[in-house]
Amino acid sequence: MVFSPTRAPAVRPAPARRLADRRLFLAETLRTFRTTGAVTPSSRHLAEALAAPLAHRTGQPRTVLEVGAGTGAVSRVLADLLGPEDTLDLVEANPRFARLLAADLRADPRLAAHGERVTLIAGPVAELDPRARYDVIVSGLPFANFAPDEVSGLLAGYLAALKPGGHLTYFGYRGTARLRALLGTSRSLARHSGVTHVLEAFQQTHGADCRTVWGNVPPARVWHVGVPAAKPRPLPRATARAVKPWQAPGR
Ligand SMILES: C[S@@+](CC[C@H](N)C(=O)[O-])C[C@H]1O[C@@H](n2cnc3c(N)ncnc32)[C@H](O)[C@@H]1O
Repeated sequence: MVFSPTRAPAVRPAPARRLADRRLFLAETLRTFRTTGAVTPSSRHLAEALAAPLAHRTGQPRTVLEVGAGTGAVSRVLADLLGPEDTLDLVEANPRFARLLAADLRADPRLAAHGERVTLIAGPVAELDPRARYDVIVSGLPFANFAPDEVSGLLAGYLAALKPGGHLTYFGYRGTARLRALLGTSRSLARHSGVTHVLEAFQQTHGADCRTVWGNVPPARVWHVGVPAAKPRPLPRATARAVKPWQAPGR
C-alpha cells in the first residue's frame, strides 16, 4: 500500500532558522559527506511522505523512532502527528546536529509540546538499546554512502526493532547512480552497486512500496515497508546469531 501524504497543519520553521539549518547542513556535508549525505535538510514534502504511516491512528499508544534526525526537518513533522500517548525517539550521531536538536526539544514548540515523550539519543544508531521496539521507524540515513554490509546490518536492525504490524520508511535520492557513474572511482562504483543490490533484495523480499517526491532537492524516492502483524518464523539459530541488530555482520 502506498501511503498518501499526511494532512498535518503546514507549520514551517521561521525563515531565519531555515537558512541557519541549510548553512549548517552544507558545512557538515563538506566536513563529513559520508555520514551527512545531503546538501540541505529534507523538504516539507519529503518529510510528509516519510511520516505518512503516522497519519493513520490506531487508538493505541505508538512508539516512533527517527534515525539520522539531522536538524529536525522530519522530526518536527513526526512530532506534529504524535497522539497524546505516542513517544518519539530521535537518534543523531553528529554532535553538531545533536546539540541543535537538544536545544529544540526545549525551545521549539512543535517538539517541546510533547515534553519527555520526545527524547534525543545523541550517538550512532548502533548504540541504541537493542531491546527497544517500535511501531514506526523512519530512517534518514544516507545508505548510498555506506558499505553494503553496513546497510544489510542496519536493515536487519530495523526489522528486529519493529513490532509486529510496524512500518519502516526510508529514502534515497534520484539520479545519484548517474552522477556516480560520471564522477566516481571504480571502487566507489562497486560499493554503490553492492548497496543497490542489498536494497533491491530487501525491497523485493518485503514487498516495499515506493513513491517519488519531486518537491525536494534533489528529488527522492521514499520506500515504505510493512512488517506482518504476526512475525514470520525466526531465523535458524546459526543465522540469527550472525546478525546482531544495528551492526554490520562481522564488525
Ligand atoms: C541525509 S541526512 C538526513 C537528516 C534529516 N533526517 C533530514 O531529512 O533533513 C542523514 C543524517 O543521518 C545522520 N547519521 C549518519 N550516520 C548515522 C548513524 N550511524 N547513526 C545516527 N545518525 C547518523 C547524519 O549525521 C545526518 O544527520
